[in-house]
Amino acid sequence: MPLSQTHAIAILGTGSHVPERIVTNDDLAKLVNTSDEWIHTRTGIRERRLAGPGETTTSLALGAARAALADAQLEASAIDLLIVATCTPDLPMPATACLVQTALGLPATTACFDLNAACTGFVYALDTAWALLASGRYRHALIIGAEKMSSAIDWSDRTTCVLFGDGAGAAVLGPAPSGSGIVATKLGAIPGTSDLLLIPGGGSSPLAPGAPRHIQMKGKEVFKFAVRAMDEVCRDLLTPLGLAPQDVALVVPHQANLRIIHAIAEYLELPHDRFFANVDRYGNTSAASIPLALDEARRAGRLKRGDLILLVAFGAGLTCGGALVRW
Ligand code: COA
Repeated sequence: MPLSQTHAIAILGTGSHVPERIVTNDDLAKLVNTSDEWIHTRTGIRERRLAGPGETTTSLALGAARAALADAQLEASAIDLLIVATCTPDLPMPATACLVQTALGLPATTACFDLNAACTGFVYALDTAWALLASGRYRHALIIGAEKMSSAIDWSDRTTCVLFGDGAGAAVLGPAPSGSGIVATKLGAIPGTSDLLLIPGGGSSPLAPGAPRHIQMKGKEVFKFAVRAMDEVCRDLLTPLGLAPQDVALVVPHQANLRIIHAIAEYLELPHDRFFANVDRYGNTSAASIPLALDEARRAGRLKRGDLILLVAFGAGLTCGGALVRW
């Protein structure tokens, strides 16, 4: 197929999978000096899911992948492109995507790789898969956001441990039924902001061996960046197409903090109920957050055929990105 020929590509199915173990704010208050009142007022979070023994990023990814394939009514063997967005892979190598490939029984002709754009990872994966499918070089993509954030948390640090959770979400992409499809995407990253949100240790940097392998964050600065960047991404997606925020039926934002979601709603002059939110039950599941929310929105009947859906995220990097999808 010539590269110049492009094809309309849609999300054909979604799925998600979370650990069974629920950890409430009151549970965390037994671990660190915090309270349900503090956490809920500052973030909107009430509880999160944490992986139990034997649960891994790969096992969570697999659960979400199987559910997405079932929703798309597609055999696993139809997938020829598999991308796992994660910043908590089981291993430095091989890629989590290869572990998922083997477990799903995908053929040797499947392109498999991981992608790390932290919490913006799923949107980066969507954009990448869209480009590869639209070029005609691949036909069906499985994109997964999966995280075991509990493995990257310092459980004695109350400023971060209350914010994150484990989980996975997935989407199957392929040729679009007429009228539907991905309309536009936008990715970005702000130079010079890597010190605002990072895991200093565990990498190959000379500084890494002795450095903590846990998330460190300048919360207030990240908050301000997040609101500004996500507002900008939404406008950059809508304005060139002659669209206004009011034309969007549902925004599915990264689930980091309900106050961030409400701040974007104010900026875009949209009512809060135009934003899907499940951060109260899962906390911030990083790359899993958007596909997990998207899947819940679909199952709740919030995505109607023909609706314009806006996905928007930010994360470590600092990265940001969005996608406009005609459902
Ligand atoms: N329980 C109780 N007190 C806590 C606490 C906790 N879990 N975590 C921090 N505090 C304390 C702080 O130590 C501080 O105390 P001090 O005033 O004595 O120094 C006080 O609460 C206020 O902290 P502050 O940082 O001003 O709170 P905040 O209103 O900015 O909320 C965040 C903190 C982290 C919830 C908020 O900044 C945020 O959500 N930022 C974005 C983070 C994010 O989304 N990261 C992921 C990006 S993908």
